[in-house]
Amino acid sequence: MTAYVVNKYGDSNVFEDRTVETPSPDDDEVLVEVAATSVNPIDAKIRRGDLPDLSPLLPAILHGDVAGTVAAVGSKVTKYNVGDRVFGLAGGVTDYPGALAEYTVTDETLLASVPENIDFEAAAALPIAGLTAWEMVVNEAAIQSENQVLVHGGTGGVGHFAVQYAAATGADVVATVSSAEKADQAGNLGATDTANYETESVQAYTAEYASSGGFDVVIDTVGDENLARSFEAVAPYGTVVSTESSSVPRPDLLHEKALSLNLVLTIVPLLTDEPLSRLQEGLKNLSKHTSAGDVSPLIDSVYELSDVEQAHRRAEHPDRIGKVVLEN
Ligand SMILES: NC(=O)c1ccc[n+]([C@@H]2O[C@H](COP(=O)([O-])OP(=O)(O)OC[C@H]3O[C@@H](n4cnc5c(N)ncnc54)[C@H](OP(=O)(O)O)[C@@H]3O)[C@@H](O)[C@H]2O)c1
Repeated sequence: MTAYVVNKYGDSNVFEDRTVETPSPDDDEVLVEVAATSVNPIDAKIRRGDLPDLSPLLPAILHGDVAGTVAAVGSKVTKYNVGDRVFGLAGGVTDYPGALAEYTVTDETLLASVPENIDFEAAAALPIAGLTAWEMVVNEAAIQSENQVLVHGGTGGVGHFAVQYAAATGADVVATVSSAEKADQAGNLGATDTANYETESVQAYTAEYASSGGFDVVIDTVGDENLARSFEAVAPYGTVVSTESSSVPRPDLLHEKALSLNLVLTIVPLLTDEPLSRLQEGLKNLSKHTSAGDVSPLIDSVYELSDVEQAHRRAEHPDRIGKVVLEN
């Protein structure tokens, strides 16, 4: 089969077409004929060599998100048959080969059926970003209809799903964005209001949109140095949930307001012995909300798999809104 491999770390031009052996599924695994995949920041970080602990051995097949058709099943697979339309997590981290190829294998627990109301391109935009939004909004913050919620990065991969998951609860959702076009998109996704993080101060938008001295919950898909802004925007006793925390500034600010800081790492079950069933639950939840129309992926652009260099370049462009998808 053809795979698009990385044999050295670097810019988006490091991908090479190679003919490699088509993988065969182990007992619990499914062979998926890849119809589509999407770019997540983790793919670009691994490609650049920024995440040595998560990087597969080179030459590596990257990309965690997959949607496609079941081509073969292992002897113990019970949920799927050849020909089923599935989406989920392929790997692309540590020793799990990813989806930038004609075929990929993955555990049946890391897949769900593609909802009937979406195509493969949309399904491929769901897994990592959608599961992360589910972890943040549903599992960690347990957002309720009476909450006032701030989502940083309201049109990013994770943020646009977080806005929709939070809005589906009936909560008031304010999204931060960097342009008028992104503000419009965040409004279409269900944000009640938006704030331009480049021109409006945290103090100003918090005073304008939060009624109890801050937001009950801040969903921070930027993290790191942005955490200080989240601590400023959240109300006393509130919750900040973040995807990134290479440094947590000023823990005293957490203490001053008696805040909770919850950190997510969606792929924990792929890196540890934690059960994969948590990811299965998230995929089913994504499927359910997508079928109901509460959650729908915002797709910036679609490229051929062979144009992976251009797809990664677009994914790293600041004008991008939502997800970059590749189709086979
Ligand atoms: N821990 C995990 O399990 C996990 C899972 C998925 C992703 N992640 C990480 O989470 C981060 C987000 O992932 P993603 O897929 O959403 O990435 P993305 O699609 O690139 O989105 C990033 C978002 O951050 C916004 N942003 C950048 N600087 C900002 C600031 N100062 N204030 C407010 N918003 C700002 C951008 O807004 P504009 O476009 O308006 O500039 C964009 O919407 C990445 O670092 C990724 O690696 C972690």
